[in-house]
Amino acid sequence: MTSTPLAAVTGAEGFIGSHLVEALVAAGHRVRAMAQYNSFSSYGWLETLSEEVLAEVEIVLGDVRDPGSVRGFAEGADCVYHLAALIAIPYSYRAPHSYVDTNVTGTLNVLEAVRALDTPRLVHTSTSETYGTAQTVPITEDHPIHTQSPYAASKAGGDRLADSYHASFGTPVVTLRPFNTFGPRQSMRAVIPTVIGQLAAGERVITLGDLRPTRDFTYVEDTARAFLAVGTADAGQVVGRTFNAGTGGEISVGDLVALIGKVTGTEVEVREDAERVRPAASEVMRLVADATRLRETTGWAPAHDLERGLARTAEFFQDPANLARYKTGIYNV
Ligand SMILES: NC(=O)c1ccc[n+]([C@@H]2O[C@H](COP(=O)([O-])OP(=O)(O)OC[C@H]3O[C@@H](n4cnc5c(N)ncnc54)[C@H](O)[C@@H]3O)[C@@H](O)[C@H]2O)c1
Repeated sequence: MTSTPLAAVTGAEGFIGSHLVEALVAAGHRVRAMAQYNSFSSYGWLETLSEEVLAEVEIVLGDVRDPGSVRGFAEGADCVYHLAALIAIPYSYRAPHSYVDTNVTGTLNVLEAVRALDTPRLVHTSTSETYGTAQTVPITEDHPIHTQSPYAASKAGGDRLADSYHASFGTPVVTLRPFNTFGPRQSMRAVIPTVIGQLAAGERVITLGDLRPTRDFTYVEDTARAFLAVGTADAGQVVGRTFNAGTGGEISVGDLVALIGKVTGTEVEVREDAERVRPAASEVMRLVADATRLRETTGWAPAHDLERGLARTAEFFQDPANLARYKTGIYNV
């Protein structure tokens, strides 16, 4: 008889992490979920999961910047999914040291824990932002790394440490590189919740930054399934490798706003807000994924197209109980 596998998820109280916890439980895993220590004893989005899911989840307050905290957290896990990070690009202009502490040193602490504990698998989370503006499209895993923000640089630093631990110590790490993810529970720092949230709050003139950049948007449940796919595939297929997760579709921010208007049946007017425009050389103008490697290795494929995902996201933000958790009237960095 085999025992139920234990997955340890950092960043579990966040947007993607909370969906991953649900996906893991649905797939029959027990989950240890790290929520970042805070004085409110808040478990973030984990507090909103169903009782059936939470029955399989042990929530631990901790901090990836602290090696002991990470080591205790990873003890006994069959797989560690490392999602904890500081993720906002604008805030990385203001507080870059905290990005290095969390995204670089925090990842080092996770690698050290996994190495010391002989954890069978680590799924490390990268980001498409490490590629910078596409030099060739669609972007494969062999595309050059070109970091245009302190956030991207700190994530690439974590990626390079992960690669080096695999090369130096045989640490069984897989790197998943999601392209832009969207859906329920995303913070208002990202463009889709910003637009849908402002509309749901009754605004009709939406303030945004540059409307020209294009992105490849993946619905969050599909991203969560990509994590599960690389976390559970045969080691020989995935360990030591990097996998893009994205749909291969591409849309500009301007066209996205128009599509959100169509999906939600609202007239939207956009006003460019200078505060939201990034320095020209820091703005990533084009991202579109080639996820052939992930598809061919694990059979992963997105189940939601953009319109369907937007409709589900709008439904979430239109629920007043959900909207009440957000500050729609400010620029959320
Ligand atoms: N959202 C996207 O579009 C996207 C795209 C590519 C990659 N990613 C990556 O996916 C992961 C999850 O991102 P998300 O969008 O869910 O963001 P999120 O901010 O909702 O989740 C990150 C979580 O990490 C936690 N955290 C931060 N510092 C911590 C610390 N010192 N110790 C412990 N926990 C800490 C935060 O509390 C938060 O809950 C990140 O690694 C991010 O870089 C996200």
